Parts: sequence; C-alpha cells; structure tokens
Amino acid sequence: MKIKSHGIVLTAAVVLALAVPATLVAQAANKEQGRALFQNPQAFGGEVSCSSCHPGGSGLEQAGDKTTFNIMGEVQNTLAEAVNFCIVNANQGQAIAEDSDEMKNIVAYIKSLKAPAAPGYGAPPPAPGPGYGR
Ligand code: HEC
Repeated sequence: MKIKSHGIVLTAAVVLALAVPATLVAQAANKEQGRALFQNPQAFGGEVSCSSCHPGGSGLEQAGDKTTFNIMGEVQNTLAEAVNFCIVNANQGQAIAEDSDEMKNIVAYIKSLKAPAAPGYGAPPPAPGPGYGR
C-alpha cells in the first residue's frame, strides 16, 4: 500500500514518536518524548500543538541558546518560562512545572533544533596574524 497523505504519515510519525521511546532504552528518549509533546495538541490541556505555530520546531533553532525571549511583547528569562508562556498564552493550556520530565523533554527537544553548521564550508578562516594589512 502506498501512503500518500501527509496526514497519515504525520500521524504515523507521532504514534511512532510516542511509542518508540517507551519501548527503547531511556537513553535518547528525552528529546523524542519532547518532540511528541510538541506535536500533540492535547499535551498541555490546550487545543493546538506547539507544532501548529512552530511547524517541526521551525523558528526555534536559536531558542536553545537564548537567555531572553520576547514573545508577544512579554519578556521571558529562561527557555522553560518561554515554553510555559506559549503553553498558557498560545496553546491555551496548563503551565507545567519547570522541573517536570515534560519540561525537561520539551527543552531537550528545542535545544536539539539548533541548526548544525552548514556543511561544506570547513573550518573558519584563521584570524589575521600580526602583520596582516600592513
Ligand atoms: C498560537 C501560536 C503559538 C503556539 C501554539 C506556540 N507558540 Fe511558541 N511562539 C509563538 C510566537 C508568536 C512566538 C514569538 C515569535 C517567535 O519567536 O517565533 C513564540 C515563541 C516561542 C519561543 C521563543 C523563541 C525565541 O527564539 O525567542 C519558544 C521557545 C516557543 N515559542 C515554544 C513553544 C512551545 C514549546 C509551544 C508549545 C507548548 C509553543 N511555543 C506554542 C506562537 C506560538
């Protein structure tokens, strides 16, 4: 059978993302569980998934390294605060404890989004040494 619908593929991906970490070792599970939460509209008691506004995490590639967030005119000072701000104000859900496994998994997922260095460019050029530009 050929699956053509993105909806089916996405659903399958979500089901896999939810099922696989539970059956495999806990090792690499955190960010995958975070991804599953990110894509689950019901995850926080709200009505939309994080992914509906940040599809596949896009736009959040820098978030893992930030210490200040400005979301809808409100400043948040940690990634966990930013996540809870979106849960409450964007997802219309219930904030989660900052030390909960859910928060740790979501944070691990967001940090994993950091764009890898562009391939093919190699190491950056060496800094100019003494005498350069004389
Ligand atoms: C209704 C749309 C919407 C939903 C749903 C939503 N967000 Fe956001 N989010 C935004 C907007 C708008 C911003 C601010 C602009 C930006 O940085 O993209 C933002 C910003 C963020 C940031 C800060 C990004 C940065 O680099 O400053 C994080 C982290 C974030 N969202 C995580 C989440 C998580 C996790 C969820 C699910 C719990 C979620 N968002 C759900 C709209 C949404």
